[in-house]
This record gives sequence, structure tokens and C-alpha cells, in this order.
Amino acid sequence: MVDLSTDLGFIKLKNPVITASGTFGYGEEFQDFFNLDILGAFVLKGIYKNPRSGNPPPRIHETASGLLNSIGLPGPGAKELQKIVKRIHRLTKTPIIINVCGDTDEEYIEVAEIFDKMDEVTMLELNISCPNIKRGGKCPAQDEKHTYKLVNQIKHNTSKPLIVKLSPNVNDISSIAISAEQAGADCISLVNTFLGMAVDLDSKRPVFKNLFAGLSGPAIKPLALKLVWEAVQSVHIPVIGIGGITSGRDVLEFILTGASAVQIGTINIVEPKASVRIIKEIEDIMKKLNIKNLDEIKGKLKI
Ligand code: FUM
Repeated sequence: MVDLSTDLGFIKLKNPVITASGTFGYGEEFQDFFNLDILGAFVLKGIYKNPRSGNPPPRIHETASGLLNSIGLPGPGAKELQKIVKRIHRLTKTPIIINVCGDTDEEYIEVAEIFDKMDEVTMLELNISCPNIKRGGKCPAQDEKHTYKLVNQIKHNTSKPLIVKLSPNVNDISSIAISAEQAGADCISLVNTFLGMAVDLDSKRPVFKNLFAGLSGPAIKPLALKLVWEAVQSVHIPVIGIGGITSGRDVLEFILTGASAVQIGTINIVEPKASVRIIKEIEDIMKKLNIKNLDEIKGKLKI
């Protein structure tokens, strides 16, 4: 028997596989594909206080080994999501993570407070890293001081464990990770998508109305691993690795690099049952390599 569980300090997950925000709907859309109980946890699509329609189409564009998205965080608003969360909680006891968004710091705090009060919610993930909201503008995760201020305010107004989701579009990931930790984050998750663009030769126009979009998928895995490594070296809180993970082997590579858990994203869109396969692959590889539990390899990369 191998033990897939992973301890984030504030919660022990049955395995390290968490489905990433924006790639797994509100969870219930996937109930016909597999039993949601098998997941370590799942993150719901990012939510603002009020309903939003998101960006104009096209919203996604395939690239070699990757996907560009400019979705713009559409959603039903916090009130409606509260009802959905109650429904999902009746369906599964797998920990539910709310991806908290805001146009202003005040909105972030308001949304966090709303879901902090719900027993059905296990953790909050602060989305300060979406690249698709302000064209050319900075998201909070691209500024150390803003990251500190916002995380600190949320920590003072909420009591649930707080994951802070970081952006790869920065010069120095360590300083942002340290700001989040010093402000009270219980955990950091990285990376959100890399800024990229696509052009249409026929129309001679950019594919996306916003010009830039966020790149995810296997193309970004090596870039994500590097940033996860740097973050792990900089902070003492647990790190959740995200970026191009498509297999059990990928998951174990992130764990070896020092991640305590991972989020899987783009692969959910091409293969809705990917989580089932990936969890089985982790188990098979651990058996084959005689790894009894994840702590045996976590952060044990030999440099
Ligand atoms: O545009 C989007 O909805 C993406 C969100 C994110 O990357 O956090």
C-alpha cells in the first residue's frame, strides 16, 4: 500500500491532486465523468461579488502544446455561488476551495468574507494573478506591496486558510512569494498563466480583443517548475505547483521540486477524467519506485 496523502499544515488532503480554478467549472459539471470524492480538493471558477459576463469571444486559442485563454472571469456572482456551493457539498465531502476575485481591494475583502462564513467552504484561494482583466495593467500579484497589503487585509477579515495564487509574469517570484507569506498567507499556489498573444494572418489582427491572453498547458511546465523551485526556496509555507501537469509523473516531479500538492488545469478541458488517470498513475509509479509516502520525495531534488 502507498500513502498518497499530503499535509498542508492546516489540512491533510487524501492525495495531492487539486483541480484548478476555471478548468473544472463549479465541480458539479464533472459529476457524470467521475466520483468527485477521489480528488484531493477542487477549486471553483473565480468569483466576484456581482455577476459578470467576461471577455468578448474568441476566448480560447490552441497553440503548440498549450492553450491561450482570455476568458475574463465571467461568473454568476457571490450570492448565486453560495447556492451552488451548498449543492456541491451535498454531492461530495471533498474540500471546496473558493477562488476569490475583486476589481478593488474592497471587493476582494467582501467576497472573501462572504465565503469565509460558509461551513461548506474549506479554504479560500486569492486570485491576484489573472492576466485577462486589465489590458496591459498590473494585477496585484505583480507588485510586492500590493500583494502584501491585500493578503494582510484579507487575513485580518477572515479565518479560513488562505492560499494566494501567484503570477508568473514577474521579474522576481521570490519577493512576491515572501510578501504573501509575510502578510499571513497559509500557502501559495503558482503559476497562473503566462502572458502571450496570437495573431491571425488572414485578418492581420490579433486573435484576442484584449491583445494578450494567458498561456497554459504542457508548453509551460518547465517554466512553472523553475518558478515553483524558486518559491519553495524562498518561503516556509506550503507551495501548490501549477503548470502544464498532464500525468502522474508530472505530479511527482513537482513534489520532488518541493510542492506539497498540485493543481491540474488545462488537461481537464481535453480529458475530463484526467484526474482519475493521474491519481492512478501516481499510485503506480510510487509502487514501482517503492515510495511509501510523498514525504519520502517531497523537496528531495538532488542539486
Ligand atoms: O480570464 C480568466 O477567466 C482567467 C482567470 C485566471 O487566469 O485566473
